[in-house]
Amino acid sequence: MSEKRVVPKHVAIIMDGNGRWAKQRGKERYEGHLAGVESVRSVVRGAVRNGVKWLTLYAFSTENWGRPTAEVEAIMQLFCRTVMNEGESLAKQGVRVLILGERTRFSEEVLEMIDRIETTTAEGSRLTLVLAFNYSSRRELVLATQAIARRVADGEISVDDIDEELVSSSLMTASIPDPDLVIRTSGECRLSNFLLWQASYAEFYFPEIMWPDFDEGAFEEALEVYCHRERRFGKVLDES
Ligand code: FPP
Repeated sequence: MSEKRVVPKHVAIIMDGNGRWAKQRGKERYEGHLAGVESVRSVVRGAVRNGVKWLTLYAFSTENWGRPTAEVEAIMQLFCRTVMNEGESLAKQGVRVLILGERTRFSEEVLEMIDRIETTTAEGSRLTLVLAFNYSSRRELVLATQAIARRVADGEISVDDIDEELVSSSLMTASIPDPDLVIRTSGECRLSNFLLWQASYAEFYFPEIMWPDFDEGAFEEALEVYCHRERRFGKVLDES
């Protein structure tokens, strides 16, 4: 009897290594990001094909504003162009796009594109693609803490009402399930301010390849690794 493969409901990816990929080829860093968009397409296809319901991609961290202006500008332009070009195709594949992060510091054009992609794809029900854009987990936790403190100060809730559920529902990810699998490409093994609360019980996978080389096959491999992991959530598995 063939066993059904366990597919993670939510895969979150730190797309790392675009700059190094480009440098290794004597190209500008921007070209690494450009090549990275192709990997985004492949992974979205792979997620839809395999029945993954949520896919979160760390596209731009709050800290990324500290990069050279030209690179920040290039990533913003790439985001706008991708949203312009891919909206319809994503909608056809049944993909709904959500943008996760603070809607601050963006140009009018980027804000318009965010609005456009979320509207164009709102009906998608096969996969939700969450693009973390101007996102940082610590900032998210600070904002949630402020929101909760305000509710206590206003007498709406008491300190004893604060539990895990309330914290989770006060985060920007309130409507998004916790990730089951977190992938970071390029061989780096850290979270870099990504889903710190949400990834508490996630499985981690750190393939050595750079993001532009991460294709559908590499995504399949990650799913294969995941299905052999034993998740215990701090408990002991029944050995009977
Ligand atoms: C990390 O590689 C990558 C980024 C900070 C940007 C990722 C952006 C894209 C793939 C394009 C835009 C995204 C979408 C969804 C349209 P790095 O530059 O830190 O690489 P390095 O560590 O080798 O320098």
